[in-house]
Amino acid sequence: MKKARIKAAKVAKAIAEGRDVEAERMEQEKNRLSGAGFRKREALWRQRINGADTSFKICIDCSFEDQMTSKEIGSLSNQIRYCYAANKRNTKPIHLSISSLSGSTLNNLSRCDGFPNQWTLRAFTHTDQSLLSLHTDPSRVVYLTECSDTILDTLVDGDVYVIGGIVDRNRLKGVTRKKAKEMGVRTAALPIDKYLKKGKGPSTATKVLTCNHVFEILLKFRENGGDWGAAMLDVLPTRRGDGDGDGDGDGDGDDDGARSDDGGVKGVASDTAVIVAGNETTS
Ligand SMILES: C[S@@+](CC[C@H](N)C(=O)[O-])C[C@H]1O[C@@H](n2cnc3c(N)ncnc32)[C@H](O)[C@@H]1O
Repeated sequence: MKKARIKAAKVAKAIAEGRDVEAERMEQEKNRLSGAGFRKREALWRQRINGADTSFKICIDCSFEDQMTSKEIGSLSNQIRYCYAANKRNTKPIHLSISSLSGSTLNNLSRCDGFPNQWTLRAFTHTDQSLLSLHTDPSRVVYLTECSDTILDTLVDGDVYVIGGIVDRNRLKGVTRKKAKEMGVRTAALPIDKYLKKGKGPSTATKVLTCNHVFEILLKFRENGGDWGAAMLDVLPTRRGDGDGDGDGDGDGDDDGARSDDGGVKGVASDTAVIVAGNETTS
């Protein structure tokens, strides 16, 4: 199993570095039994989450489930897991919410470790209610869509940036722009053309990104003090396709490095998460 191989490699590396692996293991076990490890993690989390209340927020709008195939819904569920995991690991996490979460997407997430109880302890909320039932001030809502004429310059504290919960292989062009118009909320596109040069660096073949890539770029932008270029370079892969062709960006579905409160999620390293193949609109 891949997980076991990775663990063995970590142990081999630690031994090569001259670390006393057995002593470390005993110390970890002692901390686990005494609850010291848990308390330390909680204290670190409280430090990191400090500031999220005044920051911008991100919401994934899952109201498009009836327009997706079950495979696409599966991919979307994985992408939501990656968003949760990336947020939990980030040095400056934000509040992540999911609106209109029901049906198969909810069922898929319900099978993840820790969903929803442990997730809600990590700046996560979800509801089956609509976006504007959850974020009630439309003037603070910005729907992200690659079709917008407004290009994001910065992210404003107090605003809610909405990502369409969609995996569509470019079939549902313009649905988020249409929805934003109906709701009377602003729209904005990521400044991809401005910061990524065509033919160079990461996947400039597409301007339509996966939900988790959009989410991570916003997080990185906040974390790195407002540098779009660096955020995109950090998050976007330099190669296309995740090898398994399902476009969910997970490569193999393995839950590498999962911890129980991760919801069994995989790491979102930039060399493993990839753009959904088939979402290309521009080249
Ligand atoms: C795979 S895309 C879905 C594209 C879909 N056809 C649509 O109309 O939104 C998933 C979501 O990520 C966000 N997104 C993807 N690329 C974006 C971009 N370049 N700028 C802003 N948001 C983007 C949008 O919120 C989008 O709904």
